[in-house]
Amino acid sequence: SETLNLAVIGGDGIGPEVVAEGLKVLDAVTDTKVERTEYDLGARRWHATGETLPDSVLEELRGHDAILLGAIGDPSVPSGVLERNLLLRLRFELDHYINLRPAKLYPGTSSPLDLARVAPDGIDFVVVREGTEGPYTGNGGALRVGTPQELATEVSVNTRFGAERAVRDAFARAQARDRKKLTLVHKHNVLTHAGHLWRRTVEEVGAEFPDVHTDYTHVDAATIYLATDPGRFDVIVTDNLFGDIITDLAAAVTGGIGLAASGNINPDRTAPSMFEPVHGSAPDIAGKGIADPTAAILSVALLLAHVGQDDAARRIESAVAGDLAERGDAQRSTAEIGDAIATRA
Ligand code: IPM
Ligand code: MN
Repeated sequence: SETLNLAVIGGDGIGPEVVAEGLKVLDAVTDTKVERTEYDLGARRWHATGETLPDSVLEELRGHDAILLGAIGDPSVPSGVLERNLLLRLRFELDHYINLRPAKLYPGTSSPLDLARVAPDGIDFVVVREGTEGPYTGNGGALRVGTPQELATEVSVNTRFGAERAVRDAFARAQARDRKKLTLVHKHNVLTHAGHLWRRTVEEVGAEFPDVHTDYTHVDAATIYLATDPGRFDVIVTDNLFGDIITDLAAAVTGGIGLAASGNINPDRTAPSMFEPVHGSAPDIAGKGIADPTAAILSVALLLAHVGQDDAARRIESAVAGDLAERGDAQRSTAEIGDAIATRA
């Protein structure tokens, strides 16, 4: 059909390396004309100009169909500067209220778990992480910094509106899956105010989805289950911070952070959604051509599914599955993995 108008933000560290492989595979599977615009954002730009995300760039990004992002963050930049003013600002400004993080164990993938014992039926779940609220809003402050009386707050913001739209999206996803199970992960025994809001929201929205089975797990217990019985999960809905933490663990048990893809999704399509590997910029291996591009490639599959190219998305997923099944311990370069998957796709 028409052109896919893509914004590409390679970002920091291994970001540009893995994004290049994602684009290689994209080219291999799509018949649509892909127009790419690269945006130079991240540590380099901050050092050169002091800019993180100029308003004019943000406005330009709004004009694209989707954004593909590599990774943001560098040890040479004070912690939080790029994270908050670039990555989180994009998520907030573009209203990416669903941070979608699939956790799927592909055959042949190695896991630190004793899979035969703890996940005999495999692992295949998806985390719907709320993306615009929680402790990520920057609502907090510090007093008397550097004194023995120092005080710092980091307030978790939870609105009914925000929880409800995440919960409704998660229910819809659960309904479309075989097991139709939705687990709310929170900590309502301690975080009583927000916990109550989330629980009630799940209960009330759940009435619209009578065939979805719901349950609840405290976040600390969820980490135990992720290590001892991950097959129990189908769709998890949770707040921004719990979602951040458990999706790293979910990645670790399904083959590692090199495979974990994510979508920062604006389901209302009032702005472009943004797709990125869950991993960071990995400065220790940047420039060596050894980063695993699989997470970025799977993020391209999520991107294609979002823009309605389901066939192309499925072709990428099967190509990745095929590659993983035969991967073994072979040491391949970033480009070799990208080539292999592109050839299969
Ligand atoms: C992630 C990252 C980000 C987050 C950081 C870099 C702001 O850890 O995408 O999971 O906490 O969301
Ligand atoms: Mn994270």
